Amino acid sequence: MNRRREVFSVGISDDLQATIADMVDGRRGILAADESSGTIAKRFDAVGVESTEEHRRFYRSLLLDTEGLGQYVSGVILFEETLGQKNGDGRLLPHVAAEQGIVPGIKVDKGKGPLAGAPGDLITFGLDGLEARLQGYREQGARFAKWREVYPISPHNPARLGLTANAEMLARYAAVCQGCGVVPIVEPEVLMDGDHSIERSAEVNEAVWHEVFHALHRHGVVLELMILKPSMVTPGKDCAKAPPEQVAEYTMRSLRRGVPAAVPSINFLSGGQGPEEATANLNALNQLWHAPWQLSFSYGRALQEPALKAWQGESGNAGAAQAALLKRARLNHLAMLGEYQESME
Ligand code: 13P
Repeated sequence: MNRRREVFSVGISDDLQATIADMVDGRRGILAADESSGTIAKRFDAVGVESTEEHRRFYRSLLLDTEGLGQYVSGVILFEETLGQKNGDGRLLPHVAAEQGIVPGIKVDKGKGPLAGAPGDLITFGLDGLEARLQGYREQGARFAKWREVYPISPHNPARLGLTANAEMLARYAAVCQGCGVVPIVEPEVLMDGDHSIERSAEVNEAVWHEVFHALHRHGVVLELMILKPSMVTPGKDCAKAPPEQVAEYTMRSLRRGVPAAVPSINFLSGGQGPEEATANLNALNQLWHAPWQLSFSYGRALQEPALKAWQGESGNAGAAQAALLKRARLNHLAMLGEYQESME
């Protein structure tokens, strides 16, 4: 029996279990729509749209108002600002999501900076006051949270200190979330930037997961009541792409070495993979022999890119943007079943 399970009140444990049951059903994934103000400005800039509060509200309501999205998406990660915004009918966006059967969640980390003592490594901020913030987010409808630690790959990174310090942050965050009845998504993102080989990516991801689960255990986090959001094992962006079968083989081998079977769901980030590439890789993973976890998606760019391009900041393009989002969500749902084919594009 896990120590933490004994210290949770029955109500908290029931809340966590109900959220996992609503999010993990073998058929649906997560839409990451939690870009920080800086990141959403970059995404909007790429399609010539200014990042005003109204544009952000309009675009994110467009995503959540997509009819039928709840067939393929079981959770949405929101940015703090979105929790208080309303759609065109005056309904709060977390409620719009919930009415589609999509569980609303919230990004709670406060971004990253250099990790002192480990040149080239990074660390994420935001633990101070986290418990109070979570209570407030819960009142606004959030039932799960997300925290991202970032690991660049170089010949010297991540350093030993980078591995241990980042794992400690993720575990402290996850423990606070579970204590508040909020399901933690634990996101250790190993960056694709660079010219490293797929073998080097596998080595780093394995070291990261090993350290993260060691820390989660030390902090008494209940593995059955969390979701892991890792990178796939791929070669660096400056190398030739690996075929989906190879990405799947390496990713599965590393996951089996580093991630306990008690974790209910692994929802990959897309991390710079193109939309079709991310779907093909997820499909290949689900075509391998049976995994102990659900293998799903929690894509930001790989779900939203075609929708953003279709939208271009014009309200008249909203329908086309929604169709583009629904298509990517449906194809990723098929990839979870191992039934996706390139011809469906
Ligand atoms: P990408 O899928 O665009 O990498 O975004 C996922 C995410 O939530 C990053 O924190």
